[in-house]
Amino acid sequence: MSIRIAGTGSYVPDRILTNADLEKMVETSDEWIRTRTGIEERHIAAPDQPTSDLAYRASLKALEMAGITGEQIDAIVVATITPDYVFPSTGCVLQDRLGAKGAFCFDLEAACSGLLYSLEVAYSLMKTHPQRYKHVLVIGAEKLSCITDWTNRNTCVLFGDGAGAVLLENDGSDGPDCVVASDLHTDGGYGEILKMPAGGSLAPASKETVEAHEHFIHMEGKEVFKLAVNAMVNAGKTVLEEAGITPEEVNLVVPHQANSRIIYAVAPRLGVPDERVFININHYGNTSAASIGLCLDEAVRSGRIKKGDNVLLTAFGGGLTWGAMLLKF
Ligand SMILES: CC(C)(COP(=O)(O)OP(=O)(O)OC[C@H]1O[C@@H](n2cnc3c(N)ncnc32)[C@H](O)[C@@H]1OP(=O)(O)O)[C@@H](O)C(=O)NCCC(=O)NCCS
Repeated sequence: MSIRIAGTGSYVPDRILTNADLEKMVETSDEWIRTRTGIEERHIAAPDQPTSDLAYRASLKALEMAGITGEQIDAIVVATITPDYVFPSTGCVLQDRLGAKGAFCFDLEAACSGLLYSLEVAYSLMKTHPQRYKHVLVIGAEKLSCITDWTNRNTCVLFGDGAGAVLLENDGSDGPDCVVASDLHTDGGYGEILKMPAGGSLAPASKETVEAHEHFIHMEGKEVFKLAVNAMVNAGKTVLEEAGITPEEVNLVVPHQANSRIIYAVAPRLGVPDERVFININHYGNTSAASIGLCLDEAVRSGRIKKGDNVLLTAFGGGLTWGAMLLKF
C-alpha cells in the first residue's frame, strides 16, 4: 500500500485588494506593509461567497488532476476557522456540492496549522483502514475577510481569502508513502495572544460583543512573531532528523505564509537557502489554513515540485498550534 498525493487544487476569489486600497481605509502605507510583511495584495471573497464555495472550487481542480469524481471520495477533512456555519460543518456542505455521497466529512480547527493537522489525520485514517479510505480529500479554506477588523491597521493589512486542496490516494502499490515524517504541537497556554474573543459559547454574539469588535481576529503580533520562528525551526529540524535527510536534500520548503520576515528567518536556521523556499504571500496575504495548500498547488502546477521531491511543510498559528511535515512527492 502506498499513499500518495494524486492531485492538488487551489482557488482565490477574483476581487483583489491592494495595499494602495488599504491606504484609503486605514492609516497605513504600501511601503510599511511591504517591508514589514511582504504583502502587496490579497484576494477578497464576495459577500455572498462562503468558505465552502472557495473549498469547492479548489477541490474540483484537485479531483480533476487526480482523475477521480466526487463519488470516489471516502472522506473529506476541511481545515478552517471560518466555517459557513457553526454547524453543519463545511465538510458536510462540501460533500453535498461535490456529490461525495459515500464520504464521511468533518471540519478540523487548528487555525494556520490546519492543513498540516488535517494531512496528519487523513494519512492516519488511510494507514489504519486502507480498505475503507482509498481517496481522502484535505482542504484548507478560509474567508478571513469576514473576521477581519477593517478599521484596525494592526491586523487588516495581513489577511486574505482562498482555498487549497490535496487529494490523498492509496494506489495499492508498494511505493513509499507521501508522508515521510511529521512533528505537530499545541500549547493552549498561549491561546490569548491570537484569538477571536467572541462568537463561541463563552461569549455568544451580543450587541456588546459586536460593538467591542470581538468577532474579529485579535493578535499580539510581536509575541506571535518571536514564538513562530523558534517553533517552526525546531519542528522542521525534528522532522528532517526523523526522516533521516539533510537540509541539502530538501527540494522545497513550503511554509505557512504569515509574514515574509518570519519565512526568511526560518529558512536559514533550517539550513535551506532562500531559493528553495516557496513564497507567494505577496499576492495572497495570510490565508490561514489555506496558505500551504495554495502554495503546494502553485508549486506543483508551475513545475517547482516534481515527482520524487522532498518537500518540507512548516506551520504556526492560533491555539497555539504549530508543526512541520516532510512530504515525498
Ligand atoms: C503583525 C506584524 C506584521 C507587525 O510587525 P511588527 O514589526 O511586529 O510591528 P509592531 O506591531 O511592533 O508595530 C510597529 C509600529 O508600526 C505600527 N503599525 C502597525 N500596523 C501598521 C500598519 N498597517 N501601517 C503602519 N503602521 C503600522 C504600530 O502601531 C507600531 O507603531 P508605534 O511604534 O508607533 O507603536 C508582525 O508582528 C507579525 O507578522 N507577527 C506575526 C504574525 C503571525 O505569524 N501570525 C501567525 C499566524 S496567523
